[in-house]
Amino acid sequence: MLRSILLYLSQQQALRRWMETSALARPLTRRFVAGETLEEAVAACRAIHREGMAVALDHLGENVTTAVESQASLVESLKAVREIADQRLRATVSIKLTQFGLDLDTAFCRENVAPLVAAARQAGTGVEVDMESSGYVDRTLAIVEDLHGRYGCVRAVIQAYLYRSEEDIRRLCAARIPVRLCKGAYREPPSVAFPAKAQVDENYLRLGRVLLTAGIDPALATHDERMLALVRGLSPDRFEIQMLYGVRRDLQRRLVAEGYRVRLYLPYGEAWYPYLMRRLAERPANLWFVLRSLAS
Ligand code: FDA
Repeated sequence: MLRSILLYLSQQQALRRWMETSALARPLTRRFVAGETLEEAVAACRAIHREGMAVALDHLGENVTTAVESQASLVESLKAVREIADQRLRATVSIKLTQFGLDLDTAFCRENVAPLVAAARQAGTGVEVDMESSGYVDRTLAIVEDLHGRYGCVRAVIQAYLYRSEEDIRRLCAARIPVRLCKGAYREPPSVAFPAKAQVDENYLRLGRVLLTAGIDPALATHDERMLALVRGLSPDRFEIQMLYGVRRDLQRRLVAEGYRVRLYLPYGEAWYPYLMRRLAERPANLWFVLRSLAS
């Protein structure tokens, strides 16, 4: 119930505008967001490297409504790629296509992202393309497949809660496109997604086996130790485990100590509201973390 309310609130644009511009609300983000600027994100990235982990830098933002905003997203992500190259960070960039104009026009979005992927290739890094709600999946995968054909160095994301995902993951693996497998974070109807968490977990394990057998540079994105049973007995150089900044820090450290390759998804920027609300919806107990940061 609380989860549904939080997911509903995550989509409320007026509340989002109010929260993101309120100085009072800003301290709420500390646990899960690196800061508002690229400089703060780079500092957090260095601290994460010292703990033995790589990073996926995510300049927060989604569902932009104008071409100008979507071009500004490109500029911000290009700056991140430049920092990765100049400062030799062990980092990729992670983006959402609705931040690059997917709501405006698919072809426009594709050509807006293309310079970023080209720059990432030149810098020796990659672009991870997050998956958003189910209405975007076809267009997102079409763009990823096109960019992979032109530049390589892109990774797709597959969500285990969608019925369609087994077909998608098999097609991506056959095309040698790297995949990040996650459970899925959006509110979806039972017509497209498994309604029960146990079904999602079971599908994650099924898709994880496909990915680890047939995938290129596979990434398992999860904080669920039961899902990590998938990698038992596998050599750590065959895959990476991805986790979110601020979530299960105990597990992150333990996996590094055990020799696993771990990459942290590191969000930064001013447009933090929908991201934070999805993290709260996944685990309403996180409300205590954010309220505590407000009190301090
Ligand atoms: P699950 O939700 O079952 O949680 C397992 C355990 O992990 C919990 O019991 C708790 O201990 C801990 N945990 C999980 N979430 C937590 C939180 N927010 N705070 C504190 N503890 C938490 N989704 C999507 O739709 N598109 C995408 O592109 C991505 N990308 C992505 C990248 C990376 C690196 C990660 C880790 C996750 C995503 N996700 C995502 C989000 C993903 O779909 C999912 O919502 C969350 O990872 C939670 O699922 P878990 O696999 O962690 O399992």
